[in-house]
Amino acid sequence: MRNSKFIEKLKCDRNLSDDEFKVLLESDAFDEYLYRAADEKRRNIYGDEVYIRGLIEFTNYCHNNCYYCGIRRDNKKVERYRLTQEEILSCCEEGHRLGFRTFVLQGGKDFYYTDTLLCDIISEIRERFSDCAITLSVGEKSKESYRNFFNAGATRYLLRHETTNAEHYQRLHPYSMSLDNRKRCLYNLKEIGYQVGSGFMVGSPYQRTEFLIEDLRFLQELEPDMIGIGPYITHTDTPFASFENGSMLLTLRLISVLRLMFPYALIPSTTALGTIHPQGRELGLKAGANVIMPNLTPVDVRNLYSLYENKICTGEEAAQCRGCLEQRVKSAGYRIVTSIGNKIKESK
Ligand code: SAM
Ligand code: FES
Repeated sequence: MRNSKFIEKLKCDRNLSDDEFKVLLESDAFDEYLYRAADEKRRNIYGDEVYIRGLIEFTNYCHNNCYYCGIRRDNKKVERYRLTQEEILSCCEEGHRLGFRTFVLQGGKDFYYTDTLLCDIISEIRERFSDCAITLSVGEKSKESYRNFFNAGATRYLLRHETTNAEHYQRLHPYSMSLDNRKRCLYNLKEIGYQVGSGFMVGSPYQRTEFLIEDLRFLQELEPDMIGIGPYITHTDTPFASFENGSMLLTLRLISVLRLMFPYALIPSTTALGTIHPQGRELGLKAGANVIMPNLTPVDVRNLYSLYENKICTGEEAAQCRGCLEQRVKSAGYRIVTSIGNKIKESK
């Protein structure tokens, strides 16, 4: 019963020693107990509410070359697309009609979208949908660019640190990218005043339990408002084609651990989780996640944003997606709410 003692300790202290984390993460014996504890914690704070964020994948052009990612620069098999300002605004229009009050603009590292253009898009969304929050996820930028986007009206930013072990980081990314810069970006975003989301892939090539524990320690230091984790999923047209997918069970275990460590965090049940298992997103919610990010990207380009293979929800219209998720969330015992909703401030 040692593990259940760890879970009690994690519930009370929001922390464990490295050795205790290692035992917990490497054992599946007490998963049910862990999920229950995390669900109880989440219900104490957020009740049965699940927040939805409308995801707009506005460009799959990417100047970066991360070894794991299907839209990396050197993947010449990808048909590339960009959405115009008007197309992005119509995604928001449709999303707003369906009850979304947060839009997440995500894309590869695409120089076509200059600061001026992105700021224009952000301020136009702000003006037309003044009751909505704008989240950006466009990777590493200068502090000045981040400040420009913030002043234009984006108040949240998602940038996964991916791994906080420098050696591991370098095995996942080319030398043009560095962990130091990624961390600097995250701290810059916080300093500017963004609500920051970070996170990592579970089961990425060369990952070890020790690295995952380092990830948890980094998150303790960063104190992000949102934490996004999902299983690594292999894409054939990348240098990591021969690696196996990450594990769903380990992802669920980590979601629960994160909920107990960061009770107020916004934790999405990710599309990647739904891709490796048909019930993945429902199980993610039951393990402590409280956010879902349905796709508002136009259907004719959606399958081109192929970070990994067999990505779900690439065929349905936004309204269909919204309806399907409503049912899925309900079947898991929760309820989609459309408010911007977060209790982050109360936790500080
Ligand atoms: N360019 C932005 C950035 O770098 O943060 C946003 C786009 S990036 C493609 C979004 C996230 O997708 C990454 O942070 C990474 O964790 C995830 N991702 C990329 N390839 C993946 C894969 N093969 N399996 C699972 N997740 C993946
Ligand atoms: Fe585009 Fe990694 S390949 S950000």
